[in-house]
Amino acid sequence: MTTLLVIHASARKERSLSRQLGDSFVMHWLREAPGDTVLRRDVGIEHPPLLTEAWIAACFTPDDQQTPEQRQVLAYSDAAIQELADADVIVITTPRYNYGMPAALKAWFDQVIRIRRTFSFDRSEKTWPLSPLMSGKTLVLLSSSGEFDFRPGGLRASWDHLEPHVRTCAHYLGVAGEDLHHVPIEYQEFADERHDASVNRGLEAAATLAARLARDKAG
Ligand SMILES: Cc1cc2nc3c(=O)[nH]c(=O)nc-3n(C[C@H](O)[C@H](O)[C@H](O)COP(=O)(O)O)c2cc1C
Repeated sequence: MTTLLVIHASARKERSLSRQLGDSFVMHWLREAPGDTVLRRDVGIEHPPLLTEAWIAACFTPDDQQTPEQRQVLAYSDAAIQELADADVIVITTPRYNYGMPAALKAWFDQVIRIRRTFSFDRSEKTWPLSPLMSGKTLVLLSSSGEFDFRPGGLRASWDHLEPHVRTCAHYLGVAGEDLHHVPIEYQEFADERHDASVNRGLEAAATLAARLARDKAG
C-alpha cells in the first residue's frame, strides 16, 4: 500500500487550477489503486507558522533538554515531518507567485527541513556537510502560472524560481532528482486558446502520471 501526502499551496480555494490538477491526479491514482492512503495538508489556507528565534533555539536543543514550551513551538514541525515520514509520494499543488513558490509553501518547507529530523550536519565533510535522513520518496509538483515558457530553454527559463527551488528543498526530504515529476499549467493570465490547450495537456499528463506511478508503486 502506498501513502500520498497532498500539500495544497494556492491562496484560492475556489477556481484554483493547481488544486484542480491535484484533485484530478488523486482521482486517477485512486482509480488505479483504490486501497492507497491520501493524507492532506492545506498550507494555502491554513498557513504554517513562520520561523522564530524560539523555533530555531528549540530545534538546536537536544530532545531530552527541551522545555514544554520548546516542544510546543516545534509541534507543527513534528506533525508535518511525521506526515512526510509516513508518505511514499508527496504531491505539491502550487501557483507561481512572483516567479517562485508562495510564501506559505516556503513556510512549510522551513518547518519540515529540520536538523536531526530530516537532515544531518557533519562539519568534517567539507563539500556536502548536509545529508538527507529520509530516502526513496517521490515528489509530484503540479503547478499553475499566469505566464508561460518557464521550461529549460524557454523564454522565461532564467526567471523560473519555482521548480529549481522545490527540487533543491526536495533533496532534503529524500527525493532524488529523477523522482521529481513536474506537470505545469501555463497562460492562466491570458485566458485564451493557449491556456485551454495548456490546461488540457496538464490534466492529461497528471492523469497518465498518476496511473503510471500508482502501478509502479504497487509493484
Ligand atoms: C500574487 C500573485 C502573484 C503572481 N505571480 C506570478 C508570476 O510571477 N508569474 C506567473 O507566471 N504568474 C503569476 N501569477 C499568476 C498565478 O500563477 C496564476 O493565476 C495561477 O493560476 C494561480 O494558481 P491557482 O489557480 O492554483 O490559484 C501570480 C498570481 C498572484 C495572485
